[in-house]
Amino acid sequence: MVDKVLLMEMIPNLIQLLQLPIIKDSRGNLTFIENNKHIPFEIKRIYYLYDVPGGAERGGHAHRELKQFIIAVSGSFDVVVYDGKFRQRFHLNRSYFGLYLPNMVWRELDNFSSGSVCLVLASELYDEKDYIRDITLFEKEVGQKL
Ligand code: TYD
Repeated sequence: MVDKVLLMEMIPNLIQLLQLPIIKDSRGNLTFIENNKHIPFEIKRIYYLYDVPGGAERGGHAHRELKQFIIAVSGSFDVVVYDGKFRQRFHLNRSYFGLYLPNMVWRELDNFSSGSVCLVLASELYDEKDYIRDITLFEKEVGQKL
């Protein structure tokens, strides 16, 4: 039932905070993610940020094609997203929430808590050519699409 609700809410071109399934258990909770079911893409790569020093900032770029799903599997941090028009800050602090970012979204990650782990599921293999690391270029490219 929960899965059906999630599927209906999953819109591939929209930045979305999605709640993942939780199997509650006195021995510890469990959350799972399946390709194309809980997130709107095939997972080709997984990476994670950890040992992030206090005050550090990550991200500061957009992707031309790559889609991502970002989870605070431990601790918390903020993701600031910018689509060329609007900027919004998301505070991620639960292992069962994930932020879906379609392509052509500028993102900055900051406010990492001590010991936090940022898990990222990605729709493509690593390709530096897919990155836009200059915000002026991003605004130009996204402006042509808006
Ligand atoms: P980058 O994506 O800029 O980090 P973040 O957005 O988290 O701040 O990547 C940092 C460096 O790591 C950069 O030199 C590319 C390299 N890298 C890989 O080699 N493979 C990967 O899958 C990722 C995500 C980064």
